Amino acid sequence: MAVITIDGIRLEVPDQKNVLDCALEAGIYIPHLCHHPDLPENGSCRMCVVEVEGQDEVVRSCMLKAEDGLNITTNSERISRLRTLALELLLGAHPEDCSTCPKYGNCELQTLIQYIGANNARMKNRSRGFKMNEDNPLLIHDMNRCVLCGRCVRACKRLRGVGILDYQKKDMETYIGTLHDKLLKDADCRFCTACAEVCPTGTIRDKKVYSAADGTREEVLVPCKNACPAHTDVP
Ligand code: FES
Repeated sequence: MAVITIDGIRLEVPDQKNVLDCALEAGIYIPHLCHHPDLPENGSCRMCVVEVEGQDEVVRSCMLKAEDGLNITTNSERISRLRTLALELLLGAHPEDCSTCPKYGNCELQTLIQYIGANNARMKNRSRGFKMNEDNPLLIHDMNRCVLCGRCVRACKRLRGVGILDYQKKDMETYIGTLHDKLLKDADCRFCTACAEVCPTGTIRDKKVYSAADGTREEVLVPCKNACPAHTDVP
């Protein structure tokens, strides 16, 4: 075990456990987006940055291992500035249509926008111009809404051992898809829908749950497992 301090609260936690999980389990909310409790970390979103006593640089708490004596601050002016900037950069390439998005009210990005209080006013909003793909059974892919958190890639590869989803490049744009843009059914997809379950935005959607055509939502079958203010009592 290790004794660490987060925002002045002393915690006894398993040695080497990641600090973001330690905080969330103790009821201390640190904003996060690429983190998912069932997936290995990839540290891509930089939403979870914290300050560690004795270190000049901020650190991603999802990649930080607990060890005796760590003294962590999750909220300061510098952290707030960096988190806001990281979120603004994501929003600069994200559609501005939250209220008509099928995932409205159940989107972790929307929750972060509200929690952090960021918007894209300082960014020139640009459309990535991806065509929505509704040609697969069960799933819709709307890559314009993707924040490249890679949860779907990790779920496909690490949770299900399939590995057909990965980061792809077209012109200057990075997106998530199959090799050579094959349809999922031609790429050996098992249609387990794990990718849709872990997607934090409206990018990969279960057709039965989130209709693409009229933006209505039948029923949320998959509750959010990621501790965030919209879905928990964490302030
Ligand atoms: Fe830590 Fe994304 S949650 S970098």
